[in-house]
Amino acid sequence: FERPDGEPCRQRLLVVANRLPVSAIRRGEESWSLEISAGGLVSALLGVKEFEARWIGWAGVNVPDEAGQKALTKALAEKRCIPVFLDEDLVHQYYNGYCNNILWPLFHYLGLPQEDRLATTRSFQSQFAAYKKANQMFADVVNEHYEEGDVVWCHDYHLMFLPKCLKEYDSKMKVGWFLHTPFPSSEIHRTLPSRSELLRAVLAADLVGFHTYDYARHFVSACARILGLEGTPEGVEDQGRLTRVAAFPIGIDSERFIRALEVPEVQEHIRELKERFSERKVMLGVDRLDMIKGIPQKLLAFEKFLEENAYWRDKVVLLQIAVPTRTDVSEYQKLTSQVHEIVGRINGRFGSLSAVPIHHLDRSLDFHALCALYAVTDVALVTSLRDGMNLVSYEFVACQDSKKGVLILSEFAGAAQSLGAGALLVNPWNITEVASSIGQALNMKADEREKRHHHNFYHVTTHTAQEWAETFVSELNDTVVEAQQRIRE
Ligand code: G6P
Repeated sequence: FERPDGEPCRQRLLVVANRLPVSAIRRGEESWSLEISAGGLVSALLGVKEFEARWIGWAGVNVPDEAGQKALTKALAEKRCIPVFLDEDLVHQYYNGYCNNILWPLFHYLGLPQEDRLATTRSFQSQFAAYKKANQMFADVVNEHYEEGDVVWCHDYHLMFLPKCLKEYDSKMKVGWFLHTPFPSSEIHRTLPSRSELLRAVLAADLVGFHTYDYARHFVSACARILGLEGTPEGVEDQGRLTRVAAFPIGIDSERFIRALEVPEVQEHIRELKERFSERKVMLGVDRLDMIKGIPQKLLAFEKFLEENAYWRDKVVLLQIAVPTRTDVSEYQKLTSQVHEIVGRINGRFGSLSAVPIHHLDRSLDFHALCALYAVTDVALVTSLRDGMNLVSYEFVACQDSKKGVLILSEFAGAAQSLGAGALLVNPWNITEVASSIGQALNMKADEREKRHHHNFYHVTTHTAQEWAETFVSELNDTVVEAQQRIRE
């Protein structure tokens, strides 16, 4: 995360996220190899010129021994990453439990766990205790590395307690918190047993950011209704102290995708794919294999489309890339089997000896293969049941400037608010509507596709991840200056 031009940086930025942007693989007792995982946040921060970023997070592996921890810390330091070591039990209770079994489904309107409700209620307190303990451990590491003047930017639902822990260390620390998921209606948030404690912990931050205005509004009304605090146009006020609350929609590093299309390896992939699917229109889904992504619903809609449109049966193929995630959580295991069953049924019903309608992959693709796939796609299907933003829709648009394919996009993804005018918006729960949008997309005339694509391409290339990060951090700096002025007055 060094500045490529070697210029001195104005300010240090400590980015704190549950997961570091690298995955660590142990090669020997004291030897590690590191692989950069270039997610949205990483590329956003790589492009930010004004700050010297350091990353603090969990390395995603259990390292029980001191020698291993020392060696990994050293290897990560070269990438400007600082690890937080969490033991297996804590990961189980904090990450699998409270984060992914409770907060994640709740924030995506799937409610608190439906099955085994009593068991969940019993373990709730211990999982919440683990969540607070893990957040405190992140805070301890931040505090160890913090220097006066640094900006600390906490990310996501894993670290809602962190702003409070950090301010307890030093009330002058500049602390921002950003949520990458939706923040649900206050009526949903109210059901969470630890609803008030979590809100108060987040409010310790100076600036709280969301992807959309609606999420920010839900947060402010949760603070008003649950905590009885006053919501103002700037944020939430508590005894004269203001926490700024605002929307900062994230984008992607669109140039990186556009440039990749010129790489010979990508062009070769594109040629191969075009040849392989020369007789068919290509539809594409790229999702983490997560219940919020609505993969079963998407498959059912595709099945309905094939049922009702015999003409298209041998003229269209759906490529579904389903990246395994959180595989230790039982809901995710059940989802995997359900998806496999539906894919098998559809391929059995509509396949032939030479071709099947769905190619389903349970794995991720490397960056170049993904760009090639985006570029040859005729119709992308992003049908999340809820999604904070959904950057797959942005990536697809960035790679489509020559093809001008159609984006079918869930109205429940944050991206619907920015790409809605160019995409075909659907309610992913309405299988009939999605099936008919598939038909509309496949039959759409070139001039309409072009118009829609231009709208989205303009948005994606002008609202970039770099701009998002710069805006958030400079707003955080301003917020702190204004707060200090208010105190002086
Ligand atoms: C979502 C969350 C991120 C998370 C990512 C991958 O996008 O908002 O914070 O890192 O999913 O999930 P995982 O549990 O594998 O980190």
